Amino acid sequence: MLNTLPLDLDRDRLPQHVACIMDGNGRWAQQRGLPRIAGHRQGARVLKDLVRCCRDWGIPALTVYAFSTENWQRPLKEVEFLMRLFERLLRKELAEMHQEGVRLRFLGDLSELPATLQAEMHRACATTAHNRGVTFNVAVNYGSRLEITRACQSLAQQVQRGLLQPEDIDEAAISQQLYSSNGPDPDLLIRTSGEQRLSNYLLWQMAYTELYFTDRLWPDFDRAALHEALLNFQQRDRRFGKVPAALTA
Ligand code: IPE
Ligand code: IPE
Ligand code: MG
Repeated sequence: MLNTLPLDLDRDRLPQHVACIMDGNGRWAQQRGLPRIAGHRQGARVLKDLVRCCRDWGIPALTVYAFSTENWQRPLKEVEFLMRLFERLLRKELAEMHQEGVRLRFLGDLSELPATLQAEMHRACATTAHNRGVTFNVAVNYGSRLEITRACQSLAQQVQRGLLQPEDIDEAAISQQLYSSNGPDPDLLIRTSGEQRLSNYLLWQMAYTELYFTDRLWPDFDRAALHEALLNFQQRDRRFGKVPAALTA
């Protein structure tokens, strides 16, 4: 069902990059009397289909928030479960994703993750580097303020070494230092579970992103829910600070 782009969506006005804050896994499980980890498991299943859906519908890039720099403060058992889940998913799904043309990338400070997970991540990136079906970025141990802080440090070091003049630091130079340096900014952000905040996600990159909040919990976010979000996006008038197009004629 819904393998091709729904007829009421305009192919020419699809977002080129969708970002998701996958929130509400814990509440989804709690509502069913299950442990929180059951919600993460179901959330991963939903994610798998959404990646495929982006490819099927012609959305070139998807960036999801899987683990924030703040999420280390959760109970150790939950953190350990999540790290194992990421590793297990990579092992189990990589071949199929590769076959389907998915290009995998990771955003965040990967050096603090378990060594075996880092190894799987590197393998996944290297294997899929030349795929063209859909770019799938996963933010793990990601925090936007940390990302921007590191970009500042790196530019300062270049100035200190005489490789860069302070006046040459422009928006492009900063963007280039971010984990997301090789892709366009998100056109649409989707956050599930009714929370209306950014939680330290892509703060620089989302300067002009359209924000979409839904009460649906992440493990319930299926193709129909994405369809709804895209319909809403296509009704937006993206002005980027200009006056509406109709008034400039
Ligand atoms: C999002 O769901 C997944 C991660 C942060 C890893 P939550 O685990 O935050 O679920 P809630 O917000 O507690 O329901
Ligand atoms: C944001 O969700 C992080 C991820 C989805 C990975 P959180 O559940 O951690 O965010 P807060 O704590 O509600 O802001
Ligand atoms: Mg949450």
